[in-house]
Amino acid sequence: MATNRTFTMIKPDATQENHIGGILSMIEEGGFRIVALKKVLLTAERAGQFYEVHKERPFYGDLVKYMSSGPIVAAILEKDNAVADFRTLIGATNPAQAAEGTIRKKYAKSIEANAVHGSDSDENAQIEGNFFFGPDEQF
Ligand code: CMP
Repeated sequence: MATNRTFTMIKPDATQENHIGGILSMIEEGGFRIVALKKVLLTAERAGQFYEVHKERPFYGDLVKYMSSGPIVAAILEKDNAVADFRTLIGATNPAQAAEGTIRKKYAKSIEANAVHGSDSDENAQIEGNFFFGPDEQF
């Protein structure tokens, strides 16, 4: 059964260029409630663990280096149909293909520095949220 939560990270390119507020505004205006929120500098080891599902992909090494190059903002978000609706709000992984009005269309610079991450399933939303937040941090 679908849950009503998803997980997101605002990536290092967007935090370094002062787009945290702009992106959180788009998230709230999109109807999502922020359940949990924190800014974190990931070590390469932690970034590697987060993206472990991609470890056989050719871009994995660069992705880990990039995701540990500056702070990220991690958040759990709540809305009906959260996973699918959030993926619509952020747009395609490659910003060149992202639709008008999406977060990546507005803020992403490249397929790697693509401003935000969004969970791809309810199961991963829960795993990824738990990676950053314990049950006592989720309101
Ligand atoms: P994200 O949704 O965080 O999940 C995996 C990330 O790998 C993806 O966003 C991209 O930022 C990054 N990535 C880098 N290169 C590629 C690629 N060629 N194809 C897909 N994802 C890529």
